[in-house]
Amino acid sequence: MSTQPPGARISGSGRALGARCVSNDELAAELGSSDDWIVARTGIRTRYFIEPGQSNTSLALEASRAALADAQRNASELDAIVFATLSPDMVFPGNGVLLQEALGVAPIPALDVRNQCSGFLYALSVARAWIVSGTYRRVLVVGSEVHSTGLDMSPRGRAVSILFGDGAGAVVVEAVDSHVQEGGALEPVRLGADGSGARLLFCDRPGAAHHPSITCDDIEAGRHFAHMEGRQVFRRAVELLSQEVAALIARHSLDPKRAVLVAHQSNRRINELVATRTNIPEDRVLHTIEQWGNTTAGSIPMALDLARRERRIAPGDPVIMAAFGSGLTWGTTLMWG
Ligand code: ACO
Repeated sequence: MSTQPPGARISGSGRALGARCVSNDELAAELGSSDDWIVARTGIRTRYFIEPGQSNTSLALEASRAALADAQRNASELDAIVFATLSPDMVFPGNGVLLQEALGVAPIPALDVRNQCSGFLYALSVARAWIVSGTYRRVLVVGSEVHSTGLDMSPRGRAVSILFGDGAGAVVVEAVDSHVQEGGALEPVRLGADGSGARLLFCDRPGAAHHPSITCDDIEAGRHFAHMEGRQVFRRAVELLSQEVAALIARHSLDPKRAVLVAHQSNRRINELVATRTNIPEDRVLHTIEQWGNTTAGSIPMALDLARRERRIAPGDPVIMAAFGSGLTWGTTLMWG
């Protein structure tokens, strides 16, 4: 038996979407926007919203089952769950335990991660650390969001409400012999945060800092909806992601022309600018935002699943995952194809 600590690899992925496809035209009249404005500023053409009977947990369950099937594993083989979301089904408990029950895998631990757009990479870093430390051998990592039930569908909310869709992505992360080069091998995740930007993108109602945590006046004023300083977030996202992706390329001595960029999908222009600044060719950048909108913690595992299933990743390709969002928080990692 090897005395080296194990490595970690992604052995399966899956995704799920809200059942209803919603076009820009459908939103435009209500929001005081237009298809042209939304496409030009964000790249989004459609997004998916849940239908009655669906929930954050049901999307996560569908994505998880697909990931387990892809990894050729049964749920009973899992050792732990890490669940990233900013839109849990309940204030508490978190969605991790709801998914655990739905999968029928009690009593394995279920950890909830609250890092918004970077949530999946924060969750992946925990799963990888558990595996390389020998704590667990097989971890399910999920990013799942239901935004549609919390959007301000009036002109007041248009800058935010055009962006978001409902969806989930999941991956199975497994221990592997670190000597063996296997597809899906994960390098360490590099994370960062800057709490001074917490109020650039936030939702503080209901919030325990307020007494009571939410009032009718708050609802009337729309304080229970997300607030975003869009331009500042855009600028910080381009700067930070370009810097972090360039650092990752240098750290691993990668040829950027061979890299595949699977970044968080918050605005097509952000990812185009990051790719240009880091010399990653445009045809090696995954764009799912046109069809799915911004699914926050779900966006990276959903895009990764698409890339794997459509064979957009060749064996040995360096796949760069990168996220930036509310917090402010960010993260990057490298997976070998
Ligand atoms: N339709 C039409 N007009 C609009 C809309 C809309 N949906 N939204 C805003 N406008 C108007 C504004 O009212 C403003 O009009 P004015 O000039 O008359 O005042 C004008 O368009 C420009 O508004 P901005 O907000 O400055 O528009 P911008 O070009 O910045 O685009 C956007 C807005 C798309 C939100 C952009 O700022 C962006 O993508 N920001 C980054 C988003 C992001 O990365 N978020 C982080 C991840 S999400 C997460 O973490 C949960």
